[in-house]
Amino acid sequence: MKTTVLIAHEYGQPEVLNLESHSLPTLASGMARIQVKAAGINPIDARRMTGEFKHAQLPQTFGTEFAGVIVELADANTTWKIGDEVLGSGGSFTHATVIDVPLENLIRKPQNIEWNIAGSLAGAAQTAMTILDEMGPAQSLLVHGGSGGVGSILIQLAIEKGMNVVATASEKNQQHLQALGATPVVYGEGLIQRLHSIHPEKFDASIDMSGNEDATQASLATVKSGGFMGSIAGRKLSSSQIRPVWVKRNINNLQHVVDGVADGRFDWSVSREYPFENAQEAYTDVLTGHTKGKSVLVFQ
Ligand SMILES: NC(=O)c1ccc[n+]([C@@H]2O[C@H](COP(=O)([O-])OP(=O)(O)OC[C@H]3O[C@@H](n4cnc5c(N)ncnc54)[C@H](OP(=O)(O)O)[C@@H]3O)[C@@H](O)[C@H]2O)c1
Repeated sequence: MKTTVLIAHEYGQPEVLNLESHSLPTLASGMARIQVKAAGINPIDARRMTGEFKHAQLPQTFGTEFAGVIVELADANTTWKIGDEVLGSGGSFTHATVIDVPLENLIRKPQNIEWNIAGSLAGAAQTAMTILDEMGPAQSLLVHGGSGGVGSILIQLAIEKGMNVVATASEKNQQHLQALGATPVVYGEGLIQRLHSIHPEKFDASIDMSGNEDATQASLATVKSGGFMGSIAGRKLSSSQIRPVWVKRNINNLQHVVDGVADGRFDWSVSREYPFENAQEAYTDVLTGHTKGKSVLVFQ
């Protein structure tokens, strides 16, 4: 079977991205072969493309999440069958028309969830759940960068746990934050003063999606002594008190978010859809870092 893969032979801007056709090897035991219908694009994909992160040797492939249809199973199986609609996450290979995925990474796609939503859930959902797992109990939470992929679901999960959430974003995304249930604040100069007037008490915890100095200083000034302060940005920060957080794959965490999206408890917004053939344009947009919700590649 053939697959068309998004691949880069060098680091750089989106011009380095190519679509190449490859023959797939015999499907290995424990794996399912998936015809991809939709695959979210995350900032990490664009940051690997530019070489900011060099996680893999060149040439490199991209994409950590997907939704699609099982077209082949390596072994006799009582849980899965050909034609099942699934979603999940993998390494960095899901921006391709056909992919091979370990069975333990799959969950069933609820019928009432559209492909573009199903294909963009796994990365941000599991990251947000990892943050809450590592944070531990908290009553109040400050989110720096709450309007993007991870922040949008994190706010809803935190509110589900009974937390009071204050979140930052640019001016244009303030309403989006409010609709998610957070108290919105504009990031940038004067942030600490704005936080003091909106939330005079110290926060129990903060999480930073941006990695910038304003966010670091605001956390140090507004989180109570001993409170959790984390960052998922993967950038060098000026304070060692802000703990780096890295996503952990956890199928139960993913199922929790998928169930909530399927039954309407959680809102999941896809802001931009791109045909797979337009991947260069999609990566250009994701590089700007100002999305509302998720960006998704869709496949015919
Ligand atoms: N550590 C991990 O395991 C892990 C996992 C997933 C993601 N990440 C990283 O986490 C970051 C966020 O991911 P994402 O998918 O949520 O990205 P995203 O969808 O691009 O969202 C970025 C968010 O940051 C906000 N932002 C932009 N500039 C900011 C600033 N100066 N101060 C505060 N907030 C600012 C944006 O708000 P506006 O649009 O309103 O400007 C938006 O809310 C990315 O860098 C990604 O690579 C890490």
